[in-house]
Amino acid sequence: MELKLSREQALVQKMVRDFTENEVKPIAADTDLNTEYPAENIEKLFRYGVMGMVVPKEYGGAGADDLAAALAVEELSKQCASTGDIVATHNGLCCGPIINFGTEEQKQKYLRMLTEGHKVGAFCLTEPNAGSDASKGTTTAVLDGDHYVLNGAKIFITNGYVADVFVVFAMTDPSKGTKGISAFIVESSFPGFSVGKHEVKMGLHGSPTAEIVFTDCIVPKENLLGVEGKGFNIAMNTLDGGRIGIAAQALGIAEGAMAEAMDFTKSRIQFGRPISKFQNTQFKFADMYVGIEAGRLLIYKAALTKMSGARFTLEAACAKLHCSELAMKTTTDCVQMLGGYGYTKDYPVERMMRDAKITQIYEGTSEIQRVVISGNILR
Ligand code: CAA
Repeated sequence: MELKLSREQALVQKMVRDFTENEVKPIAADTDLNTEYPAENIEKLFRYGVMGMVVPKEYGGAGADDLAAALAVEELSKQCASTGDIVATHNGLCCGPIINFGTEEQKQKYLRMLTEGHKVGAFCLTEPNAGSDASKGTTTAVLDGDHYVLNGAKIFITNGYVADVFVVFAMTDPSKGTKGISAFIVESSFPGFSVGKHEVKMGLHGSPTAEIVFTDCIVPKENLLGVEGKGFNIAMNTLDGGRIGIAAQALGIAEGAMAEAMDFTKSRIQFGRPISKFQNTQFKFADMYVGIEAGRLLIYKAALTKMSGARFTLEAACAKLHCSELAMKTTTDCVQMLGGYGYTKDYPVERMMRDAKITQIYEGTSEIQRVVISGNILR
């Protein structure tokens, strides 16, 4: 496995690292405190080609590869996991399936909207009674002449109340189970589309999460994504890609927290010396470092496997499981290292700890990743 970044990947990494230091870090605490969508930064990320970076150049994107996309999310998430999440969802869960399964017309129209048009994308799979058991959704899509009529509601939709373009999964034939699910591209301007409850969350306050409601929502027939009845496969394939993005987000959170804790422990004097001089602190950093480096390798492997065109379900699940568990443990340990200071909003580690939690839950819980991993290795 080639571990050296290509010139393009290294350029993306540096560009997003600089952007994060200069534009993301200064507002990260307020974004969290005020539950504020970082609109100006997302607009800049469109202009810099990061939003929609995976879209091929012929459809308005930067034509970046999957590893570059993961590097971008990692860098942003070192300072603001919300910004990393908005970008990962837009690129992986909305642009991704349109790139992979869209018709030429759909690509020309929607990928351009999601890049040059600066329209934000989202992905609607989860329902109140269909979370981990994703195929049990009850949203329906009934063909009526030249359009489908969608009815139902989706919850926990990232980018929900700011997005314009949604990849939506609905039952076209409930009698067929997973083979009765189809995917659609839905615009927020379509009749019968509405945004429901805005979620108030433990963390990731800058990332807008909402319920999306379809009430006799009219979706043109040509907005069917892929083949009717193949929607579940599209959802699963898309989530495989999305899980690399969440692994990168989690890795970035862990790295950000560790950097904060290293700074703090070098200058915090207790018992006559910096607490970084105590072996307890040093061993904790050693373990964090190994976990982070292992996570990086798992992400690289998953991204490179995806780029090779081979199935990467197992690799993506391994990366997501390891990195999200790592992020939770690392941020918890970092709060502990900062002691009382770590529990206050004067330092970012408590925010990072709250943000880390969701990485163990969304785009497939840690338990679902273990289902996927064990299913693959025991096959
Ligand atoms: N790629 C392509 N196809 C796949 C696949 C994959 N990774 N995994 C399964 N499939 C296909 C199977 O081949 C099968 O197709 P055929 O019948 O044609 O062979 C079909 O899907 C059904 O497969 P299973 O029987 O394995 O499906 P299942 O119902 O047992 O579910 C699961 C498997 C892994 C548990 C799946 O339901 C799952 O991943 N659940 C978690 C859902 C999830 O991650 N939700 C997150 C939502 S998005 C989010 O959180 C972010 C946001 O912005 C809202």
